[in-house]
Amino acid sequence: MGDDPLLRYVKELQDHIDDEDSRHYSSTVLKESKAPYRMGPMADPTARGWWQGPCGDSMDIFLKVEGGVIVDVSYLTDGCGATTAVGSMLMRMTEKGTVERAWSITEHELIEALGGLPPENEHCAELALTTLHIALEHLEGGG
Ligand code: FES
Repeated sequence: MGDDPLLRYVKELQDHIDDEDSRHYSSTVLKESKAPYRMGPMADPTARGWWQGPCGDSMDIFLKVEGGVIVDVSYLTDGCGATTAVGSMLMRMTEKGTVERAWSITEHELIEALGGLPPENEHCAELALTTLHIALEHLEGGG
């Protein structure tokens, strides 16, 4: 089976893609995109935000808040690997933190936490933060 030309081709192609990815993205981006943190829907969120960026990718963020603290977070996205990584990192940065702190997270801070993003993916961070802000606004609006 190891000599199957098709399987060999698929493996070579995957190795090539992995190689390209590791040249392009930081190890943190690759790690977060392969094993995203808190990805999935939430049954009973206090607030939810959804946004679609100009590239057509969208994100959904769910927050559960008690006494000004974000006790639970989750997200969904149909976006690229970088968007998945950005959402994952944003969950880590907001979970168990205050609402005030969540409002203060900047695009620069998010990109830094990911060890950087290629310029063509910086808008993925903007998409995630816009989605978070919509969820936080819904929170203030009562749902
Ligand atoms: Fe558009 Fe990631 S490529 S949000």
